[in-house]
Parts: sequence; C-alpha cells; structure tokens
Amino acid sequence: MRSGKESALPLGSDCAGNSVEIRILREADLPGALQVQQRENWNQTENDWKRLLRLSPTGCFAAFSAENLVGSVTVVAYGKDLAWIGMLLVAQEYRRRGIGRQLMRAALNYCQSGSIATIKLDATPVGGPLYESLGFVPEGEVERWQGAGFSKVQGGSGPFRNNQLSSSFYELDDRAFYVSRRKLLDSLLEDCCVAPALQTDDSLRSPQGYALARRGARAHYVGPIVALERRMAIGLLDRVLARLPGQVFLDVWIGGSDSRSEWVRRGFVKQRAMTRMSLGRQTAAVSDLVFAIAGPELG
Ligand SMILES: CC(C)(COP(=O)(O)OP(=O)(O)OC[C@H]1O[C@@H](n2cnc3c(N)ncnc32)[C@H](O)[C@@H]1OP(=O)(O)O)[C@@H](O)C(=O)NCCC(=O)NCCS
Repeated sequence: MRSGKESALPLGSDCAGNSVEIRILREADLPGALQVQQRENWNQTENDWKRLLRLSPTGCFAAFSAENLVGSVTVVAYGKDLAWIGMLLVAQEYRRRGIGRQLMRAALNYCQSGSIATIKLDATPVGGPLYESLGFVPEGEVERWQGAGFSKVQGGSGPFRNNQLSSSFYELDDRAFYVSRRKLLDSLLEDCCVAPALQTDDSLRSPQGYALARRGARAHYVGPIVALERRMAIGLLDRVLARLPGQVFLDVWIGGSDSRSEWVRRGFVKQRAMTRMSLGRQTAAVSDLVFAIAGPELG
C-alpha cells in the first residue's frame, strides 16, 4: 500500500488562500483529530484513535490547512475481503469545499491499492449522500441506543488477559462477522473497562456468546456483543450493564428479530440511526449473531 509521501494530495486552497492537502494520519496528529471530533460530540477516545493507527498505520488520513488538521478518515482492513471506513469528519468551517470527498478518495485509493474486495461503513444521515455519490449502496440499519449501567461502583477491572480465551472464541466471532477480526478483538479485550461477559456451553469448552465494554469520551461503549441467539445476547448485555456505572452507548445491528422493546424496558432511548453501506463485491451483511457492533468505525 502507498507510502506517506505518495499520499500527500494537494487540494487547492481554503478561503484564506492556504493550500489544503491530504496526508497519512500519524500519532502526532491525534490532538488535532480529537479536537475536530470533540466538536462533533462523538464518543471515541484517544485510545480508540491509537487503536485505529495500530491496526492501520498507513490507512488513516487527515486533511491539513496551514498545518492545522481540518478533517480525517480511517480505514481498517480485515484481510483482503473487507475494509471498514470510519471517522470521516471535516471541521465545520471547512465543509462543502470538497474536503470530505477528497478524504474518501484517499481512503478508497488505499483500499484499491490493497485489492480489497468489499468496503463497508456505517453512515450518518449527513454522510449518506456523499457515500451514495461514490457508489456505496445501503445494506441494513444500525441504531445507537443510550441508557445507564446498573453499577454504583466507579472504576473498572483493568486489562483483561486474552490468553484466558480459547481459539474457539475467535471462531465464534469469525462465524458471526464472516471475516476474521482477531487483531481487533485482542485490542478491544486489552481495553475492556470491566470484565467481559462470556457464555459457554455446559462443557465450558465451546463459547456461545460474548460482550465487551470500553471507555468512551461521553459514555461507556458496549460492543461487540455476539451470541448464538438474541435472548442470550440480552443476557450478556445485562451482565455487562451490572458491572458498568454511568451512561452507556451501544450500536445495535438491526437484524432479523426486533428487540427494541427490551431496550425500552431497560430505560434505553434511541439516539440515532445509521445506514450500513457497502461498495465493491456484494457479500451478505453480517449475520444476526452480531447483536451490537464493535463501533461505527470498526464494523
Ligand atoms: C459528511 C462530511 C464529512 C462531509 O464533508 P465535506 O467536506 O463537507 O464534504 P464535501 O465538501 O466533499 O461534500 C459535501 C457537499 O458540498 C458540496 N461541495 C463540494 N465542494 C463545494 C464547493 N466548492 N462549493 C459548494 N459546495 C461544494 C458537495 O457537492 C456536497 O454537496 P451535497 O451534500 O449536496 O452532495 C461533513 O459534513 C462532516 O464532517 N459531518 C459531520 C460528521 C459526519 O456525519 N460524518 C460522516 C460520518 S458517516
């Protein structure tokens, strides 16, 4: 895939006459990226950004005007079958000048140079028209729900050691997500703010479901939740909520069966809907074993 130098795309100039260019996003750029994101009130933390850079050191891009970061986009590739685009943001005062489209072009060029078969993303209503104009087609819906954890105890359990998990844990996730995302899962396990909820069969050997939670900028983020059936997924969610204090977000994949009444009963409120969109080789959407996603920037 392309190097840092090759990725610097000149982009005309902003209204003050400064040239705007797209470059690979580096760790040193994160304070700028966080500032743009915080103004949009998104929930990702510096840790979330660092994870994206670790998973994809040359696949995250930023737009700069006079060395100020004014926009971002990230790509995480899961092998050659699938890449996920996220964190497309342009600072408000720089919008409607083509920067969002240029960032998307950088992301798509990166996917093309890596011969990625299918590209997906979870689109906000504002982002949807831009993606559609680039050829993305809708494939389903993801809903953001907000509620409160049941725990009165502040603080978390610290890092979780993923060597406690058998390889069949990853196999369950492969089966649910259709492609392997083991590196991502390892990173999310390390960042768990409370112990994950795990469900195994009676022999304790075969995992049937899991739920993870991590810290967010505005609320704890619960996800992914993967389970063989919805009732089990809700049980796993309840176990995680019992460990979490304060506000909680989760992004629910709206699959075959509707469990909205379960959220409402727990006092959760729907915050927004996102459209899952895809480009390239048509594949099945994720299975109904995925109950809550890992994050809009991750799938
Ligand atoms: C979505 C977002 C990234 C788009 O960024 P942007 O830089 O404004 O995008 P562009 O300028 O490339 O395109 C936006 C519109 O401006 C228009 N435009 C582009 N250059 C223009 C110019 N010089 N003059 C006037 N309009 C222009 C485009 O045609 C497009 O119009 P349309 O919405 O009617 O199709 C930005 O609105 C944003 O950060 N929103 C909040 C975060 C968000 O929701 N992100 C999407 C996550 S899925």
